[in-house]
Amino acid sequence: MTDKDKEMVVTPWEVSGVVDYDKLIQQFGTQRLTQGLKDRIAGHAGFMHVQLRRDVFFSHRDLDWWIGEYEAGRPVGLYTGRGPSGHVHLGHLLPWFFCAYLQRAFGAELYFQMTDDEKFLLRDDLTLEETIGYTYDNALDVIACGLEKGRTHIFSDTEHIGHLYKLGLRVAKRITFSTVKAVFGFTDSDNIGLTWYPALQAMTCFLQSDREGRNVACLIPAAIDQDPYWRMTRDVAEKLGYYKPAQIHSKFLPGLGPGGKMSASQPETAVFTTDEPELAAMKIMGAFTGGRETVRLQRELGGRPEVCNVYAYYLLLFEEDDGRLAEIEARCRSGGLTCGDCKARLAKVVRAFLVDFQRKRERARDELSDYLMS
Ligand code: TYM
Repeated sequence: MTDKDKEMVVTPWEVSGVVDYDKLIQQFGTQRLTQGLKDRIAGHAGFMHVQLRRDVFFSHRDLDWWIGEYEAGRPVGLYTGRGPSGHVHLGHLLPWFFCAYLQRAFGAELYFQMTDDEKFLLRDDLTLEETIGYTYDNALDVIACGLEKGRTHIFSDTEHIGHLYKLGLRVAKRITFSTVKAVFGFTDSDNIGLTWYPALQAMTCFLQSDREGRNVACLIPAAIDQDPYWRMTRDVAEKLGYYKPAQIHSKFLPGLGPGGKMSASQPETAVFTTDEPELAAMKIMGAFTGGRETVRLQRELGGRPEVCNVYAYYLLLFEEDDGRLAEIEARCRSGGLTCGDCKARLAKVVRAFLVDFQRKRERARDELSDYLMS
């Protein structure tokens, strides 16, 4: 059975099969992002981000309330994070670019959690020194996405725990073992660190409020795989005297193979921001497409952009111009564009993107300390 034929699985640790986003809205009990909400965001930002225009961000909880807080002149905050288990891949950048857009639009503080504890507990093959090392490596990518200095507070669970533990304890006391078993599927053989960890990811929803001594509305931009944490957190927020956190959910950038998402735990299917641009271009040339078995059939029947990862990379990240995207789609469907040519064009774009991103990433080394939470 190929990954594509597998039943859809979307959890914080696994995304496989063909993801049905409409079904996820139903299963997770979220709301579809409406045009009205997109327009309100664009109104504050001064322009509509391509990820809103193209429904990359497609679902939410309480986003209307969060924007309303801002419109009423009250402060609003943002929260997102990364589990530093390796180098950052292109998929991770999707929500971080969007955070940079929201941060500017709403003048928001952003708390950015590096869960070096989570990845140590989860992965038998990683030492604590390695996950902490990746925290600082991955922070360079976060900064390179254009987040604002002075308003972005990156922290490591292990190294900043003195700032986090008291609030984490208050959250943990409200969450039972039976809840985390039901939400995350923990079993008796999981280590007890993993069963505590969700309290720390939940805690950050209230961190800005706790530090500022006033309730601040928190919005979490992330892909929808992280949603189980927020369902759990929303149940305890008011008991702790805080607002329920709002969410805005993105779709997944697919991996290079069929089905699932780009994932650092399957490095052979991912393009990392630290890859040599030439290597990344070669990986793109091997990507799964919606092409037919032969060039002749492709010319006769046309390609299938709706199942093609190369088209998804253009749509989600690498072709912001709607006219040019429409042209790629039309030429593909008509059989005029072969997968080889389409991949070669994308490979060139990705190569140039990486050269530029890696330059920004190197520059971030000098600024790292300005971005760390104090
Ligand atoms: P992690 O490291 O798995 O993922 C980091 C962020 O990237 C998103 N993401 C993707 N988005 C689009 N396409 C993909 N292929 C893709 N793969 C991952 C994730 O949704 C996430 O937003 N436990 C978390 C760390 C964390 C966190 C948070 C994440 C702590 N607090 C708050 C989001 C919000 C984790 O391991 O993320």
